[in-house]
Amino acid sequence: MRRAACPGSFDPVTNGHIDIISRAGTLFDEVVVAVGVNQSKSRLFSPQERIEMLGTAVEPYPNVRVAGFDGLLTDFCREHEVHAIVKGLRAVSDFDYELQMAQMNASLSGIETVFVPTSPEYSFLASSLVKEVARFGGDVSGLVPGFVWDRLTARLAEPA
Ligand code: PNS
Repeated sequence: MRRAACPGSFDPVTNGHIDIISRAGTLFDEVVVAVGVNQSKSRLFSPQERIEMLGTAVEPYPNVRVAGFDGLLTDFCREHEVHAIVKGLRAVSDFDYELQMAQMNASLSGIETVFVPTSPEYSFLASSLVKEVARFGGDVSGLVPGFVWDRLTARLAEPA
């Protein structure tokens, strides 16, 4: 049984994340989506909300499950008996930071990181951009699952 972790903040999950997670599911026997729940960062959605949305988003993929983590990713990988970390790469601009994290994680635990190129239709997609565009009334409904769009617009409509 080869198990991979797909880590991220997923605030909120986008179609680009689902693309990488589903493709990781074809490369490994099992995938655990590792939702970083670090409370110190300010997020639009709480850890519970992000985990819940991911859970719904991965329902079509029987070998994918979701778990939160608060600490080192390498500790999560050891606890969940994960053999590799899968990360999506959108562009060269992602590479420097992702390489640094991959090498740090390898030096901490020996775990390998596998980079999967993002599908071209999602190469510009990031949760932060989705939130920014939605905040100013732009329509990014085609870039996130429908239920995420509904929750995003509802959250942004709440009084500050
Ligand atoms: O979606 P993001 O914000 O790019 O996800 C980043 C995340 C959560 C994958 C990364 O920050 C992480 O792995 N955090 C856990 C803490 C940790 O292990 N830090 C050392 C990384 S080398």
